[in-house]
Amino acid sequence: MLVLGVETSCDETAVALVRDRHVLSSVVATQTDVHARFGGVVPELASRRHLEMIVPVAGEALARAGVRSRDIDAVAVAQGPGLVGALLVGLCFAKSVAYVLERPLIGVSHLEAHVFSIFAEATPPFPFAALLVSGGHTNLYRVEGFGSMRLLGQTRDDAAGEAFDKVAKLLGLGYPGGPLIERYAHEGRPGALELPRAWLGPESFDFSFSGLKTAVSLHLRRHPEASPADVARAFQEAVVDVLVGKAVRAAVAVGERRLVVAGGVAANGRLRDALAAACGRENVELFVPSIELCTDNGAMVALAGLFRLERGERAGLDLDAYSRTRAKWHPPGGKLPTSRKFRDYAPGGDKP
Ligand code: KG4
Ligand code: ZN
Repeated sequence: MLVLGVETSCDETAVALVRDRHVLSSVVATQTDVHARFGGVVPELASRRHLEMIVPVAGEALARAGVRSRDIDAVAVAQGPGLVGALLVGLCFAKSVAYVLERPLIGVSHLEAHVFSIFAEATPPFPFAALLVSGGHTNLYRVEGFGSMRLLGQTRDDAAGEAFDKVAKLLGLGYPGGPLIERYAHEGRPGALELPRAWLGPESFDFSFSGLKTAVSLHLRRHPEASPADVARAFQEAVVDVLVGKAVRAAVAVGERRLVVAGGVAANGRLRDALAAACGRENVELFVPSIELCTDNGAMVALAGLFRLERGERAGLDLDAYSRTRAKWHPPGGKLPTSRKFRDYAPGGDKP
């Protein structure tokens, strides 16, 4: 089945064509130039740029895949969470294509798409633990099947990617911060300064990064002469330590010692190396998608859509965007767990 995947939830206009689990083409038009001078994403500007880019990006995806629009069997689109104005551009485009071609339409969660992006390259058996680290989320899941993700923990304040972006801004490095911090950290001296790690207790799968950001800010106020490279390195080490420690512990807790890591921050080389080392030590099987699949892209949306289509799911033309995660999945047996740690989560599909 040939699925068109459309992703416009934030500052990337992305369209891909996926046949079965094979990515034929994946085109991403980033909006860094639009938002860089503001130091972060400006929602209204993001929507306008999506509007300009969506048709050319889709045309490029078709050309690179060497297929015609009438070859498309189904259209998948990210419906949230994200910036609603930006998401609506992708939704309107996806609905138009599905309507004109008379093909099924399917809405997917951006978070589910990140987690299942690994299936373009590997087939981790269920269940597995999944760490989703992006600009908007830092979530740990127990993944039991396609579309069945149980939330084990999440950030209580900033997402890891958001912390990278904010600290890059404090250091005057620019936007987007993640890749810039990584680049500067290479030049930083190990142990030049120590920054705090928020473990939140030995049992907790939650995260917190706002204290770390404040610690960086205080350090810079007290030591204006501090080398940005040293601070970038210490910051990256602190984030990586906590992400790796909790993700590996989650993989062990889930029982099968398997870990999938996804999302923009999973593009970070230091995180990838540290995960590989820790998983090797703890005998955990690690699955991390290639870098192009970690940052926002249309292929992950097409893949997540494919799994939903295979289960017979279809969306109507009333498919709507949503800005935040909804927690309203009712598990088999009808009993909802009450613990915050085990709050269940329905990734997409149901009505907002
Ligand atoms: O998944 P993504 O592309 O978009 C969201 O869903 O948010 O993630 C974007 C985030 C940004 O905060 C960006 O700074 C971060 O991922 N990021 C990185 C790296 N590349 C992107 N963070 C650390 N190191 C990187 N190499
Ligand atoms: Zn994302």
